[in-house]
Amino acid sequence: MNPALTLGPTSAQLAQTQTPVPPVAGPRLLTGWYETGAPADLVEHHRRYGQLPLPGRPGQPAHLIDEVTAAGLRGRGGAGFPTARKLAAVAAAGRRPVVVANGCEGEPASAKDAALLSLAPHLVLDGSVLAAHALGASEVILCIHQGAAATHTLPCVIAERDDPVPVRLVEVPPRYVASEASALVHFLNSGDARPTTSPPRASQQGVNGRPTLVDNVETLAHLALIARFGASWFRSTGTPQLPGTLLITLGGAIRRPGVYELAGGTTLGTALQHAGGPTTPVQAVLTGGYAGTWLAVPKSLDVPLCQEGPPTTGSALGVAVLLALPRTACGLAQTAHLLRYLAAQSTKQCGPCTFGLPAIATDLTDLVTGHPSAPTALERLHRRLGVIPGRGACAHPDGAARLTTSALQTFATDLHHHIHGHPCPAAGDPSLFPIPGRH
Ligand SMILES: Cc1cc2nc3c(=O)[nH]c(=O)nc-3n(C[C@H](O)[C@H](O)[C@H](O)COP(=O)(O)O)c2cc1C
Ligand code: SF4
Repeated sequence: MNPALTLGPTSAQLAQTQTPVPPVAGPRLLTGWYETGAPADLVEHHRRYGQLPLPGRPGQPAHLIDEVTAAGLRGRGGAGFPTARKLAAVAAAGRRPVVVANGCEGEPASAKDAALLSLAPHLVLDGSVLAAHALGASEVILCIHQGAAATHTLPCVIAERDDPVPVRLVEVPPRYVASEASALVHFLNSGDARPTTSPPRASQQGVNGRPTLVDNVETLAHLALIARFGASWFRSTGTPQLPGTLLITLGGAIRRPGVYELAGGTTLGTALQHAGGPTTPVQAVLTGGYAGTWLAVPKSLDVPLCQEGPPTTGSALGVAVLLALPRTACGLAQTAHLLRYLAAQSTKQCGPCTFGLPAIATDLTDLVTGHPSAPTALERLHRRLGVIPGRGACAHPDGAARLTTSALQTFATDLHHHIHGHPCPAAGDPSLFPIPGRH
């Protein structure tokens, strides 16, 4: 089990030193928030972390790739892919690349990227510029959703800096699938924010046909800290499987909902305690956002949060969101709400996603409402769940299938009840979790 994080050095301690000391045992990305409660302008950012060490000549990524490999940094945008392997793939493509910083945060329950872009925007820009400089990239494109708060602040933040690589801010339509990596590239090339259904990969041929590195903004902020303080510092918290810290959004039936920076491998129970614990007895927690996995409580409280792995050894963290479900709610009805939302987000380019997601949403809704077709709905649901994953051009349908499968397992007792003639009393209740466009 990870020890609880303590806060980083105070402003007063930092001010006594000439060279900024790396935040050792506490929050790293959000250390300034804990010290001052205010966003960092460029002067404050440099006081806190020091200057960004850029290698002399652009286009020499070997050192950065080695350091990130040693650090074991994994992407914070959902899939947990090793960041060094993406850097290496783009570097190997052999042409002048582009770096895309994905700050869209399409997941409705997540607030971590918005918090980071508000409180420590220069860390994100440092990481983006560092990757671009090392790869010899022609530009950095920072993508955020239209209407996000950062659309008002980031232009000034970018203007404050004197970066060796141009940084362009681009607003993307605020839709769930629009911030999937290939959809972003497609949008930047053609104005159409839908995933592409055929190769090549962005790392080979992305924005303007150039090799393109698409990384989540939190990933890039960690990169900026690794460049300053090194791989072993990065690994000095977290676990071997998930080194470093990560930003987690806690919500649902929790006392202090919000964004927390916790060590990788923190257990589910410890994470809930950081947010003050539940407001009411909780039966399960949805981990990883709306395309995530339900974990039963209290059974799973000791499960370490990591980015992959079977539920017996750890929970796939996905987008780092934890949503606590009260014992009084119906997990199946809530899943049906989320599934209807996910089905509506399909870009309708692939059959299993276009037809499969509405179908499983209907099956689950029939089950919880006691529709006459309920007795056969479970069989249909299982059949469909067997054929949906891995058959879309992007991972959207896989996430919806994962959510449904975990709901059937976690709420098996309720399922049994509903199938045997007891429709869910909470079936018509609104979603407990935010659904965009509904208030
Ligand atoms: C439906 C869908 C939506 C996604 N939305 C986001 C998003 O809002 N932000 C993000 O960083 N990654 C998102 N991703 C993941 C990206 O495709 C990509 O893996 C990620 O930006 C890579 O960054 P990382 O390696 O730093 O994690 C999404 C993926 C899918 C399938
Ligand atoms: S899997 Fe779904 S969301 Fe992804 S490209 Fe195909 S239709 Fe669009």
